[in-house]
Amino acid sequence: MEFSFPLATHFDPVTGTIEGYPLTARRLSDLQGSFADEQAYQRALGMGDPLVYTVSGFEVPAEEGQLSYALGLIMPGKIGQEYYLTKGHFHAWRPAAEVYIGLAGEGFMLLESEDGSQNQMLPLRPHHAVYVPGHIAHRTVNTGSVPLTYVGVYPAQAGHDYDAIARKNFRHVILELDGKPSMIERSELLR
Ligand code: 6PG
Ligand code: NI
Repeated sequence: MEFSFPLATHFDPVTGTIEGYPLTARRLSDLQGSFADEQAYQRALGMGDPLVYTVSGFEVPAEEGQLSYALGLIMPGKIGQEYYLTKGHFHAWRPAAEVYIGLAGEGFMLLESEDGSQNQMLPLRPHHAVYVPGHIAHRTVNTGSVPLTYVGVYPAQAGHDYDAIARKNFRHVILELDGKPSMIERSELLR
């Protein structure tokens, strides 16, 4: 069998890296507009520009039927009461679904339908998997005190659409309330 890429990889579930594959780092300054509390965001940025998350991707040519996957690592932390999070996206090819499997640490995924009317907060940690149906925006948050790592497997043609999220963000936020992760409507925060 001859393929243009290796079929086997070696990954580290603690560092969230796939040996020999590129790592994308997102720092706090890359997450402008993602967090609900803008003042807390600016205050945190004034003290430095910490790493918030990394993604290590095994991406194959975008051909029909092929799969890619990526390992993600989100650092523990909060901006105001809101946990460190990924930007979040729809897949550019909207029908593309994705399977997330927790590897280490603890957190949640926030799912949202395109019209914003359907929302779910689902646990992501070892022994937990989340199926993200097509046409659903997804964001991951670390609610624990150590890095959260996970793997996501998706159609090679999926692509990322960040613009829709950058325009209006998710309708819900995952905050620490009374010491526990809770999902509330963003509009509740403005009251
Ligand atoms: C994907 C996956 C996943 C995701 C990371 C980072 O479609 O590639 O959902 O690998 O990209 O968790 O999240 P953001 O892409 O939203 O920054
Ligand atoms: Ni995705």
